[in-house]
Formats: sequence, structure tokens, C-alpha cells
Amino acid sequence: MEQPIAWEESLARDLISDKAELEGPLLPILHALQERFGYVDPRAVGLIASALNVSRAEVFGTLSFYKDFKKQKPLGRTIKLCLAEACQARGANALAARFEQASGCRIDGGFSGGVEIETVYCLGNCALGPNALYDGEIFGALTDEALAALHARAARDGVAR
Ligand code: FES
Repeated sequence: MEQPIAWEESLARDLISDKAELEGPLLPILHALQERFGYVDPRAVGLIASALNVSRAEVFGTLSFYKDFKKQKPLGRTIKLCLAEACQARGANALAARFEQASGCRIDGGFSGGVEIETVYCLGNCALGPNALYDGEIFGALTDEALAALHARAARDGVAR
């Protein structure tokens, strides 16, 4: 996955028009914008509404409904840590608790030092849990050391933004 870049209206228009002809285009458009810019800028709402010929309220409603969509420029980098059943069975909860204790960072507690760790529920790599997703890459069979290293990498990437 490419690194997010600063909001650019012409690029946003291109991303929207690329997907406008799909059946059910709204979610693919929102995902494309978030992937490219790291969030869905509020300025996209009007662009999407006019491209799809729907109301701004409809676009905004969908954007707000899904917690995965960020509406503000992220303050750093995000690691998604899976706490769904199969990863839990492979020790994800204990891993998360040890990480919080060792690092002083809170999972789902927002950005700290330019990094946030958000929980997600299944990354599709259940047999190799515990799993995390960072920068489009899945990290499986996570150990305490691997999660700490991933966190350190995200902190460095956050500074480099
Ligand atoms: S349960 Fe964690 S990847 Fe499926």
C-alpha cells in the first residue's frame, strides 16, 4: 500500500470518478479516498454527492456509520490488532495486555507518540494469529517482541510523515 499523501482535490475527483460507475459505489469510493489520503476529508462529501447524484446527508451518514473511516487527518500511524475469536484463542488478549503494561500505550486509546493501536475483528489470517495489520501488510504469529518492534517502526514512520 502506498503511504497516504496530503489532500488533493483533483486526485480525489479522479478516485471518485474511477469508482462512480460501480454498483454500490459509495463504500469503494470512501475506501479509496481513505487509502490514498489516510482519512476521508470533509471536502470529499460534496464531491461524492455530486458525482453519485445523492445528497450530502447520505454520503455523510455512511461515512459516519462506519467507525473504520477517519474524518480527520490522522495524527500518526495506525496499527490494527486483531482481537477476534481465533486470534484470542492464540493469545491475542494476553499479548495486548502485556503490550499495554510494557509500553504504557493504551490499545484503542488514541494516538500516543504518533502511533495508535486499534482493535479489529478478523484480518483473514486466523490460522497464524495473533495478527496485526500495518501499512497494508499482515504480521502473523505476533510475539511480544514483534509487536514492540512493529510499534517502534510505526513511531518512526509517523515522525517521517
Ligand atoms: S481472528 Fe484474527 S485474523 Fe481472523
